[in-house]
Amino acid sequence: MCRRLIIGSEGQLGTELSRFLSNKYDSDSIILTDIREESKSELIYHKLDAINYKELELIVKRYDIEEIYHLAAILSAKGEENPKMTWDLNMTSLFNVLELAKNKIVKKVFWPSSISVFGNTSPKNNTNQFCVMEPDTIYGISKLSGERWCEYYNIKYGTDIRSLRFPGIISYNTLPGGGTTDYAVEIFYSYIRKENYKCFLKKDTLLPMLFIDDAIESIDKIMTVNRNKLSIKSSYNLSGFSVSPDMISNILIEKDPSFIVSFKPDFRQDIADSWPNSINDDHAKKDWGWVAKFDLDKTVNSMVKNLKIKI
Ligand SMILES: NC(=O)c1ccc[n+]([C@@H]2O[C@H](COP(=O)([O-])OP(=O)(O)OC[C@H]3O[C@@H](n4cnc5c(N)ncnc54)[C@H](O)[C@@H]3O)[C@@H](O)[C@H]2O)c1
Repeated sequence: MCRRLIIGSEGQLGTELSRFLSNKYDSDSIILTDIREESKSELIYHKLDAINYKELELIVKRYDIEEIYHLAAILSAKGEENPKMTWDLNMTSLFNVLELAKNKIVKKVFWPSSISVFGNTSPKNNTNQFCVMEPDTIYGISKLSGERWCEYYNIKYGTDIRSLRFPGIISYNTLPGGGTTDYAVEIFYSYIRKENYKCFLKKDTLLPMLFIDDAIESIDKIMTVNRNKLSIKSSYNLSGFSVSPDMISNILIEKDPSFIVSFKPDFRQDIADSWPNSINDDHAKKDWGWVAKFDLDKTVNSMVKNLKIKI
């Protein structure tokens, strides 16, 4: 039985991925870890600081883990509050996992990168897989460095590290953990609670986004495709749809004209301005058949429907 370990299982992506993997595979074969005391899930859980190699290796060996999904990180907005800590966590934890793969203790790794690898000097529209990349945040710097290391390990050591550059992820089960695209989740909570929403980005800030179901499907797809098909050894551009705060708020106001959204940009505006408006994901389409199923309308409908049930 192939056992799979999730690092950072209690976050926005981890809670959904653990549910998905435990439905797809034997639930006893999915092991969860996070820095938090407890898990919200019923699956096997261990508190683990991802920068502690010894403890990580102990868990990996104890459960004979074959695949690691490494999701622990400090994200873009939170990262700017403590750049050194962000660098330490994002890089050390990745190295720990890369070393486990290099030493053949695990067979396969998933590690997400992000559109934060692009910066002010990158092309804005339909941003290509290969272009100028000068990230402006410590989060982006850590992700771009991580990508280079993943490619290095894959080529030099023959490891099987697979990676996607996620855009902002929109989900309803778990709140996002401190990114620049968090508004695209928060606005739905305010709408359902019948509260006014104050958006921290300008209304016309266009950013690439992905609905959570598509994000999980993309992880499943890239982790199960034949390795020979993966021509990108660092991290694949991935796209869902592009949206601005007023595009979402206009749809919600049309549903309920009493919903009020105001715009008061803060430090996150500069981060958002340095990122692409839209992403070209032709390599993912060509190499492993990536197609996003959720556009803006489908995402809004699913968010409203599911949050009405949840709240
Ligand atoms: N959510 C997005 O919009 C988005 C976009 C692009 C890339 N990503 C990437 O996807 C991954 C998961 O993101 P997320 O949105 O789920 O983040 P999140 O902040 O919601 O979750 C991260 C989890 O990591 C845990 N964690 C923090 N420090 C830890 C440590 N020292 N040891 C172990 N666990 C620790 C946190 O407790 C949290 O549960 C990250 O690598 C992130 O960079 C996310």
